[in-house]
Amino acid sequence: MGHPLVFAHRGSSYDLPEHTLAAYLRALDEGADGVECDVRLTRDGHLVCVHDRRLDRTSNGHGPVSTRTLAELEQLDFGSWHPGPAALADGDEVLDESYLRLLTLDRLLEAVRAVSRPVRLLIETKHPSRYGRHVERRLVALLDRHGLTVPRPDHPLQVTVMSFSLLAVRRLRMLAPTLPTVLLLDRLPRGLRLRLPFGIRIAGPGIALVRARPSLVPALQAAGNQVYVWTVNDPSDLELVLAAGVDGIITDRPAPTLTRLHG
Ligand code: G3P
Ligand code: CA
Repeated sequence: MGHPLVFAHRGSSYDLPEHTLAAYLRALDEGADGVECDVRLTRDGHLVCVHDRRLDRTSNGHGPVSTRTLAELEQLDFGSWHPGPAALADGDEVLDESYLRLLTLDRLLEAVRAVSRPVRLLIETKHPSRYGRHVERRLVALLDRHGLTVPRPDHPLQVTVMSFSLLAVRRLRMLAPTLPTVLLLDRLPRGLRLRLPFGIRIAGPGIALVRARPSLVPALQAAGNQVYVWTVNDPSDLELVLAAGVDGIITDRPAPTLTRLHG
């Protein structure tokens, strides 16, 4: 078997503020096979790359993302909370201001499309349940505008969509049946069959699940799934998932992971 794919979780988010363009471009410069991104809807219906429901942890704003317009979010500082940029500046690395700004999914799609090698993008829908249906519809509409809902082997950018919600993945499969999908798992739901439903072919267990039960990886693969594991930052976890034979590794630190794989 070849090496597993390496995905940068929220960009190279150990070194730079998560979900900023700077973190994504760094991951791609480092040679990651792909990047992972969480998306939410703004009050005026734009898809933005933000993990938390609230703004408080990763910006100087407060309250839920979904109560702000895109224009309001664009005024906020999404980078100064993170120690990475200052540490890099001490090392004389020049950063532009993209580590401070909110990133829209539209802008991220443009940026990854501009990379002159094949790149994969994992998009995870995060949403309060009242926006659920709209998030998936808007995501598929945006991917459609970028010509990305029907994967083509010759296309340099391959998009995969994912969620912890089986309902959300099912909706995505109905809206865009040829887009690859990942069902994320932070625990094993009672009654989950290893052959996943609705044509889902990639399972995304968390590392805690794999630590507790490494045999889950070959069992999921034997049932016809690929297995992408998140979030693999610790060297001993990396050895564990390599020994288990995973197909994809999602990590905040793609550089040391790639060095371990490719020397
Ligand atoms: O890549 C899957 C992983 O990102 C799921 O957890 O909380 O980091 O979105 P979370
Ligand atoms: Ca995520």
